[in-house]
Amino acid sequence: MSHTVLVTGGAGYIGSHACLELLRAGRDVVVIDNLSNASRVSLDRVRELAGCELVFHEADIRDRGALDGIFAAQRIDAVIHFAGLKAVGESVEQPLAYYDNNVAGTVTLLSAMRAAGVRDLVFSSSCTVYGDPAQVPVREDFPRSATNPYGRSKLIIEDMLFDLAASPLEEPWRVVLLRYFNPVGADASGRIGEDPAGIPNNLMPFVMQVAVGRRERVRVFGDDYPTPDGTGVRDYIHVTDLAVGHLAALDALAKTRGCVAVNLGTGRGYSVLDMIAAARRATGHPIPHEIVARRPGDIAATYADPAFAAEYLDWRAARDLDVMVRDHWRWQSANPTGYADASSDSRTVPR
Ligand code: NAD
Ligand code: WQD
Repeated sequence: MSHTVLVTGGAGYIGSHACLELLRAGRDVVVIDNLSNASRVSLDRVRELAGCELVFHEADIRDRGALDGIFAAQRIDAVIHFAGLKAVGESVEQPLAYYDNNVAGTVTLLSAMRAAGVRDLVFSSSCTVYGDPAQVPVREDFPRSATNPYGRSKLIIEDMLFDLAASPLEEPWRVVLLRYFNPVGADASGRIGEDPAGIPNNLMPFVMQVAVGRRERVRVFGDDYPTPDGTGVRDYIHVTDLAVGHLAALDALAKTRGCVAVNLGTGRGYSVLDMIAAARRATGHPIPHEIVARRPGDIAATYADPAFAAEYLDWRAARDLDVMVRDHWRWQSANPTGYADASSDSRTVPR
């Protein structure tokens, strides 16, 4: 069992929830994050919720010197690699920034890991690698494709990891690629959650900002898809289920030979209108919406076949749609402007 885990991007939305579950499970956690899309307050609150300390380095994964320093400072047993840029539209406008941050950053991280003799890795991949799947539910052996630089950066990193794990000259690497579907929700405490900068790209943060009164109405991108109500269908998964999936993946590294891809989803699809209806139930707010044109690049429907995750990781999503929306609302209503109004007290709680 891996004991000390280096978490890249640990101050971000999924990373902060994963750090919390790691600490709750008794692991030691070292975070590296450049805070390009996160607040250090998230880590203060992870410490507060866990009642113990984690180590935080404000640094960039492209900084080889910083990485070498971190690996030299303490024994690291495994790495969970969340750090990366993730906005699809921005990636179309700034492809080099995405290849530099995501691909070059991962090359630097892997090189530093190898130099330090650490070859156990859990990587944040995405259902975006399935492109527009020919059928649903989506299995791990389905063909992969990308329609934008963000998605291509994930494909390239996946291929890099498969190649690395297959090299006859390398010491054995053990890698689990986790392909997340659509994370939503927040820790049940409502103390940590998703805090997107600017206008949210993703549906659930947008819906919640309408509920809290920051935005007027949800724009539903198309109601003429070949789905039951015509709106897009996705596999929304509670971020805590996702975080717990990382603990299962760390445990599965022990039996992993090479590089293995695993879907993290619930296996259920919900439409945009289902999500708005669930948010109305959870919040008691009317949440007005209007139907607008399809968003370029969107697909009609995708959801996971979660069977391999159940078999390989012994992991299943446990939280249903109402819990996801209720927890997201607890976070959003208690923190209407995210972490913006909270100050970092950098307090430390001894373990
Ligand atoms: P996030 O932006 O909240 O977290 C990413 C974190 O990485 C941020 O804290 C950011 O400051 C940090 N970071 C970015 N570049 C860095 C760098 N060069 N060096 C150090 N830190 C850096 O995003 P998230 O939603 O928590 O996503 C985490 C990972 O999961 C990403 O790799 C993302 O592509 C992947 N993913 C996310 C989703 C989703 O819908 N949220 C779905 C599938 C996959
Ligand atoms: C969900 C549904 C929209 C916003 C993205 C990335 C993907 C992965 C997960 C990282 C769709 C509709 C949305 C709005 C809407 N991320 N929608 N109005 O597009 O499934 O996936 O996040 O890897 O790579 O592309 O998620 O939350 O943006 O959209 O009607 O204001 O909600 O059309 O049907 P998506 P999303």
